[in-house]
Amino acid sequence: MHLSYLSVLGSLISSTAAQSTFTPARPPSIPLAVKSPYLNTWFPAGSEGGNGGYLPGQWPTFYTGQITGWTGLVRVDGKTFTWMGLPKDIEAAYQVAFEYTSTKSIFTIEVDHKVQLKATFLSPLTPNDLKRQSLIFSYLQVEVSSLDGANHDVQLYTDISAEWVSGDLNAVAQWDFGTAGDISYHKIWKQNQQLFNEVGDRAEWGNFYYATDSQLYHLSHQSGSDLDVRRQFTREGKLTNSADTNYRAIRSDWPVFGYAVELGSVGASPTSTVFSMGLCQDEAMQFLGKDGLTNLHSLWKSYFPDDVAALSFFHKDFPESNKLSSDLDAKIFGDSTNKAGDDYAILTSLAARQAFAGTQLVGTEQKPFLFLKEISSNGNTQTIDVIFPASPIFYYTNPELVRMMLDPHFDNQESGHYPHKWAIHDLGAHYPNATGHEDGGDEHMPIEECGNLLIMVLAYVQRSGNNDYIKQHYAILKQWADFLVTDSLYPAYQLSTDDFAGHMVNQTNLALKGMIGLEAMSKISTIAGQDADAKYFTDKAHDYITQWQDLAINKGDNPPHTILNYGNWSSHGLLYNLYSDKLLNTNLVPQSVYDMQSAFYPTVNQKYGVPLDTRHPYQTKGDWEIFCAAVASEQTRDMFIADLAKWVNETPTSRPFIDLYDTNSGKHVDAVFGDVHMVFLARPVMGGMFAALIV
Ligand SMILES: *[C@@H]1O[C@H](CO)[C@@H](O)[C@H](O)[C@H]1NC(C)=O
Ligand SMILES: *[C@@H]1O[C@H](CO)[C@@H](O)[C@H](O)[C@H]1NC(C)=O
Ligand SMILES: *[C@@H]1O[C@H](CO)[C@@H](O)[C@H](O)[C@H]1NC(C)=O
Repeated sequence: MHLSYLSVLGSLISSTAAQSTFTPARPPSIPLAVKSPYLNTWFPAGSEGGNGGYLPGQWPTFYTGQITGWTGLVRVDGKTFTWMGLPKDIEAAYQVAFEYTSTKSIFTIEVDHKVQLKATFLSPLTPNDLKRQSLIFSYLQVEVSSLDGANHDVQLYTDISAEWVSGDLNAVAQWDFGTAGDISYHKIWKQNQQLFNEVGDRAEWGNFYYATDSQLYHLSHQSGSDLDVRRQFTREGKLTNSADTNYRAIRSDWPVFGYAVELGSVGASPTSTVFSMGLCQDEAMQFLGKDGLTNLHSLWKSYFPDDVAALSFFHKDFPESNKLSSDLDAKIFGDSTNKAGDDYAILTSLAARQAFAGTQLVGTEQKPFLFLKEISSNGNTQTIDVIFPASPIFYYTNPELVRMMLDPHFDNQESGHYPHKWAIHDLGAHYPNATGHEDGGDEHMPIEECGNLLIMVLAYVQRSGNNDYIKQHYAILKQWADFLVTDSLYPAYQLSTDDFAGHMVNQTNLALKGMIGLEAMSKISTIAGQDADAKYFTDKAHDYITQWQDLAINKGDNPPHTILNYGNWSSHGLLYNLYSDKLLNTNLVPQSVYDMQSAFYPTVNQKYGVPLDTRHPYQTKGDWEIFCAAVASEQTRDMFIADLAKWVNETPTSRPFIDLYDTNSGKHVDAVFGDVHMVFLARPVMGGMFAALIV
């Protein structure tokens, strides 16, 4: 419990404040509406910036920490309480339980010992249904029932503020209220629309919607200043159905867009009200591909003529969408617990919305792309070495999604937009611009990205049976493999994906990625009917891996282990690239190396995990730990998973599932690039939590 929460609660009930339960864990930050890089609102829970995870008494925030005002009030027998947010001078109800699944965050809140309110935030995931998955919307379902056996007179209220439409609080917002069929909606947008622009990672174009059923018994609505609209509800239990047309800056008397629902006399059986909210952008990305520079539409535009048609479909789809999401929740939970126990489900379930929300579907039904934002670590578009750690969740749910992430890379690089012989790092310096690097000035990670692409293509083809994919792209795949032949035995001074750790020569783990990439190319050549190439690349891979075992293993240490870079005998690190050898069934690396690493990791484990490498003795990356766990002995796997699950529950950070953290204190770690410090949060790389489910 935290003081801020206690003091809010203190006025309500004396010293016996109920504490909430948290099932299956208390995440550092709780996903509320987490669906795309621009619809990404969380509830900070960890003690550094969060309130412990209690929905009444604190504002939800975008992943950057900027407040996205979202309020919930309930009036019970004439007295009003807050169940979400921190509106002025309105008592907080108290939360008794919180639970999360892969797609839902569910808060159970008790109001005045009279009614129970259950708020379910559902950001649906439908990986095999692109029409549904393309919609950038999220649900809030509120169920109210009597707690004490008596009937109570109840009105429900919720609003969102204009803070949702821009990262610039001085920007002028505009709004409108409308109905379509039996749906009512508030529409809010930034008056000065700036296509493809961001302020503080927020989209500066598009329309936000907040919708519910019009035909509910006694729905009322109102726009206006936060104090006016909420006061109206507190006093009357209903709103005025009027609009404030003084369009103004987001921070000027904080315009909010509210609904009040007359629930009438509420007894033991729950009443349910569903709200839908989200973002519509006709044009989503700029892309430099085969046809030159083009603007790509949001994929939902292929299925719906306009915003309101999309919104109406989504809102009415709640029963089906809820069912599809619950099915996926059950599958992820069941597969995770079967594979590695309850702790593993803590990790996969927390990662699912975050990983998908690092992406969005764009293009057309004939040619859909899945674009990914390198959230928080610099905003690059379609970073190969971020797609790679994220990819396990996509292979697990629908391997075609991996192809839809790789397709834009092939389009760009096969049409001559990249000058180097190795693979590109990303498709654009900042999302949503996938405008490439025609000057070759991207962040070079030559072995990393060549290896990643060969590995990801083969893993896709093995799972999809789409052998044509290899034939279409054979020439450039071979070009990347040829680069690995020259460079992977003795990797030149370069970056790996862990760029915050700096450049280094002869990196053991990077060399291994290159060699597995070569063996992957051999299998790719076989599929393409290029038998001479197949023999050439497998011979190279086997020759190199034999030499690598002498260069990269400290055999004299007790216990023996791989080292961070050749000749640096006292160093060590997570050998996470071993994972791909199992993923692809390439069997390049002898079992003795797996066994050696499984025996070694427990000897250097700390409170919350095994350090990434000896350059920073107390920091690690959660995604790479799970890559190691997935191919380790059962005992070592369980150690990695138990420690990371414990970290989720105990870390003081309130940032969305960070991947770089301190193994002793559990705190966040800054990634340092020159003068720039950044925290790796809300990154799609946490899709890597699914690594053990696909090997
Ligand atoms: C994307 O590119 C446009 C120019 O085409 C530029 O105005 C905009 O600022 C860029 N967006 C970001 C987020 O960098
Ligand atoms: C890389 O490792 C090899 C083998 O230990 C060594 O001969 C070579 O000098 C190293 N390269 C550099 C630049 O240190
Ligand atoms: C050897 O490893 C340490 C970390 O254990 C690292 O700081 C150092 O730079 C490495 N030395 C060389 C020559 O690469």
